[in-house]
Parts: sequence; C-alpha cells; structure tokens
Amino acid sequence: MYKTKIAGIGHYVPEQVVTNEDLSRHMETSDEWIQERTGIKERRYAKKFEETTSILGAKAAKIAIERAGITPDDVDFIIFATLSPDYYFPGSGVLMQRQLGMSKNEIGALDIRNQCSGFVYGLSIADQFIKTGMYKNILLVGAEMHSFGLDFSTRGRGVTVIFGDGAGAVILQPTEEENQGIMSTHLHADGREAEHLAFINPGAHGGVHNPEHDYGYPTKEENEYGGLFLTDKMWEEGDYYPNMNGKHVFKYAVTKFPAVIMEALQQNGHTPQDLKMLIPHQANLRISQFVQKRMKLRDDQVFNNIQKYGNTTAASIPIALSEAWEAGKIQRGDLVCLAAFGSGFTWGSALLQW
Ligand code: ACO
Repeated sequence: MYKTKIAGIGHYVPEQVVTNEDLSRHMETSDEWIQERTGIKERRYAKKFEETTSILGAKAAKIAIERAGITPDDVDFIIFATLSPDYYFPGSGVLMQRQLGMSKNEIGALDIRNQCSGFVYGLSIADQFIKTGMYKNILLVGAEMHSFGLDFSTRGRGVTVIFGDGAGAVILQPTEEENQGIMSTHLHADGREAEHLAFINPGAHGGVHNPEHDYGYPTKEENEYGGLFLTDKMWEEGDYYPNMNGKHVFKYAVTKFPAVIMEALQQNGHTPQDLKMLIPHQANLRISQFVQKRMKLRDDQVFNNIQKYGNTTAASIPIALSEAWEAGKIQRGDLVCLAAFGSGFTWGSALLQW
C-alpha cells in the first residue's frame, strides 16, 4: 500500500492588515487586552467585493500546484475545508474548481465542515483515497473569510478580535519512500459540546436544540410553512453571529490537544522529544503555549504565527505549515505533527514524515 506525501504546499493571506488598534476604533477593546489573552497582534481581512473564500483558496492552491510540479489538469480530486463558504450551497470546492479552470475534467469536489479541525479531517480523508490507489493528486484546501460574518460592535468583541482571513493548500500524492509520508491520522468529536462554539442562525434547526431561547419563530397559525430559517427577531437583534464560550473552549482545548498529539506519537512509537515540529491549529497563543509546556517541547519544536494572522480556522494549519516549510524549518524526512481542536467539538492529529 502507498503512503501519502505532501508534494506541494502554498498559502495566501489577503493584503489588508488589521491591527488591534484598528479594531479598537470600532469596539471597546485594546491592543493590550487582545495580546495578553490571545497573543494576536494583527490579522488580515480580504478585499470586499473582490475576494471570497473560494478565491482565497484558489490563490493558495495555485502555489501548491506549481510547487508540486503539476498543472491544475493533473489534480484528480478536491477537498475543501471551510466554515465560511461563499454560499450556503453549493460548496466552495466547486467554485474553486471553476476558478482554477479545472471544471472540464469533471473531477470530484468534496466540501467538509469540520471548522478548526477541517484540515486534519481533510488530510485523513485524502490519505485513505491515496493509500488505496484511488487518486494520485488530491488538492486539499483550508480557507476562511471570517471578516464578512463578524460582529464589529462591542457586543461581538470576545469573538471578533480572534479571527482572520486566509487560505492554505497542499497537493497530496502517493509515495513508496520509506521515511516519507503520513504515518497516521486520529479524528475525534464530542457533539455534546456543539453549542459552545457555534454559528447558529440562520439555520434549519427550528430551535429544537435550545428550546429555552426565543428565536422569534411564527406560530403555526401565523405561518403554516417555512419562516424558520431567518426570522425578523434574529435580524433585528443581530442574532446571526458566531458565539463562543471562551473559557469552556480553552479548558477543553488544553486537554484534548496534548491527548491527541500523544495518541499520534504513541501509535508510531515516538515521544514528544522526537518531534522536529508541532504545528498546532492557531486557536490562541495561550493554548499553544500551554500545550508546549505540558508536553515539554522546546520553542524550536512548535510553530506559531497567530500573532500575524489571528485564528484562520481551517486555514490555520496549512498556512503555518507552509510558512514553516518556506522558512526552512521543516526538511525532507523530518517528523511533523499537525494537531487541531475546534467547534463541534472536533479535534484530531496527523503524524507525518516530510
Ligand atoms: N476586549 C476587551 N475586553 C473584552 C474583549 C475584548 N476583545 N472580549 C471580552 N472582553 C471582556 C469581557 O466582556 C469580560 O468583561 P467583564 O468581566 O466586564 O464581563 C472580560 O473581558 C473577561 O471576559 P472573558 O470572556 O471571561 O475573558 P477570558 O479571560 O475568558 O478571555 C478568551 C477570553 C481570550 C476568548 C479566552 O476565553 C480564550 O482564550 N478562550 C479560548 C477560546 C479560543 O481560543 N477560541 C479560539 C477559537 S476556537 C478554536 O479555534 C479552538
């Protein structure tokens, strides 16, 4: 059976830099608060009316395709991970396929909705297809455009200051080399935690998961059919933004990150000391630092760039991996662990040799 290698990697972040100072002009926050709690100094926002999630994805994909030494026509499957798709449906995968001029080959395009764990979940899916010989050049993209769906009033500050826009992409190919490729992937979820980090409205839930909350639905007498997806009340009260129980997320994340990293290492007979590089999902610098300390990893074993980009959710791991590789911090044969935790809650890890 083949193993799966990353044959090409690339990332794209929008030009517009938004500092903490910039945000403090729209909401009651400060550079000091944001840096102290999250480590974030600035993030990027995409160009309004020009860039979308799939366009950011296409820009990263072009770089990954070129670095893999192939053309868009060689790609035989697309996996697109995002929580901020251009449309509710169809998914951003087909839109990116169109932008890259790949539609004529009619290859499959799969969108996955695993939030911060999207890239690791996508990598695991791709790995299964490559190992069995079904596909030879899978394009896996993680891309996000958070800036379009955030609350820029003081009410939204607990969430808004954390997130940024960007995209990362890899080309995955089969390899028969001994010291190269994905060794294992480990995926987990706990749906009991779903609402602790969620973007709930508009949606088709009809209030079923939270009967206590008044969503402003019409009674059956007022409206026999429909009327549930987006109500006037949601609209008027701005009940259509992501919400996060930050303290709860923090507590869960600092437990699950080390556990899932250890799971990957132990399955392959390794210890944290063997790692050349841990690329954690860039959730919050404090979470990464906590994990580093808990696992007794040196500074040079953990890559962080959340300071520059904020949390880019499904894009954060491929952007960080791409930057680490570009900086020469990851070389052929190096042991690299990718680890993610996020909404769902979902979490996962991948251990690979570069
Ligand atoms: N600027 C200034 N004040 C703020 C801001 C802000 N941006 N946001 C919240 N506050 C205020 C709150 O209103 C509150 O004020 P109060 O005491 O008067 O009520 C005070 O700061 C403390 O708020 P908390 O939410 O309790 O702050 P906390 O110390 O928990 O820090 C944070 C919030 C940074 C989100 C923290 O809980 C955290 O790091 N959680 C982890 C969640 C995370 O990293 N999510 C990333 C996305 S999920 C993922 O990728 C896994």
